[in-house]
Amino acid sequence: MRRRLQALFPLDPAMAYLNHGTVGLTPWPILRQAAAWREAIESNPARFLRLELPDRLAWARGEVARFVGARPDDLVFAVNATAGCGAVLGSLRLAPGDEILLTDHGYGAVRHAAQHVAGRSGARLATLGLPFPESDPAALPALLGRALRPRTRLVVLDHITSETALPLPLAEAVALCRGAGVPVLVDGAHAPGHLTLDLDALAADWYVGTLHKWAFAPRGAAFLWARSDRQDDLEPSAISWGYRQGLQASFGWTGTSDPTPYLAAPAGLVFLAGLGGPAVRARNAALAREAAAMLRGCWRGPEPAVGDNGLAMHLVALPEGFAANPSAALRLRDRLLRSHRIEVPVIARAGRLWLRLSAQVYNELADYERLVPAIAAERG
Ligand SMILES: Cc1ncc(COP(=O)(O)O)c(C=O)c1O
Repeated sequence: MRRRLQALFPLDPAMAYLNHGTVGLTPWPILRQAAAWREAIESNPARFLRLELPDRLAWARGEVARFVGARPDDLVFAVNATAGCGAVLGSLRLAPGDEILLTDHGYGAVRHAAQHVAGRSGARLATLGLPFPESDPAALPALLGRALRPRTRLVVLDHITSETALPLPLAEAVALCRGAGVPVLVDGAHAPGHLTLDLDALAADWYVGTLHKWAFAPRGAAFLWARSDRQDDLEPSAISWGYRQGLQASFGWTGTSDPTPYLAAPAGLVFLAGLGGPAVRARNAALAREAAAMLRGCWRGPEPAVGDNGLAMHLVALPEGFAANPSAALRLRDRLLRSHRIEVPVIARAGRLWLRLSAQVYNELADYERLVPAIAAERG
């Protein structure tokens, strides 16, 4: 069974690829679908982009919207989560003294974008610290309630935190912010295909998700959802012909680009459903849990207090003996890749190094077992 699933991906068989979360592999059938779209476009690109693309994109958007529980008109494609979050941040109108509130588990690039936007207008960033490793995502609403200020103009929350693999309780957090009149941007880069989404019910102000991580789309497929009352002032970073003509027009054309990742995204959703949909997600989560338990048994480090996060991503503390700073983390990550053919993110946090394990259908426990001798060798 595992071999059959592995054959669906172009993965180098010598690799233990434990990082679907950062850069997911695109399955062969989806790569072929994307190639077919590219060929169709190339047979007459001007005609395709001008006459066919709008309808084709509307179809693809509709499929993605259905998958994430949204109305198609509220959702636009973005090349990646960075672009989606950047569009929301760049569309803010901030004044000196305003604040953007982010957690200390947020994605670094999104924090940079927020810093850039705040710095331009004399606004500032505020940081909500989430305890770690004594993590308790359920404590988020209370912490958030205490961190909101009269000048908080935006809260940015990850749906699943990137480095620490914590699922945040968004419904409560969004309701709290709404009650306080503070808009929320959800960075859901890891959520589509990983969690079941109902964006209409969540009713955040903006939600960004990638399709090229856990939803098997070709790389370069993400989306930005905006609540209907948040669409008028929203513009992409690349202003183009649809300027001020509404969400769909302004994001529907942001200059000439290759739309094949968007057009092939629905095939990724069909692929996911064909693997078993929620059942395959549960299998991936079980494998991640088993792998984390096996490594924790070997290394006996602290465990994030969240215990079983129910995700296909888990954080495992490395044993003592490694310098715990970002450059040591990067060095170890490179050593694991070059000397041991293991791709896994290494994270420096709370005075030690951690591995963030991902599990996807092409993985098996033996992939994670390779970490035991590799880490022993690197510890010296
Ligand atoms: C929480 C989070 N936000 C944003 C991103 C950026 O995603 P992309 O590279 O698709 O822009 C990532 C990537 O891993 C992420 O984990």
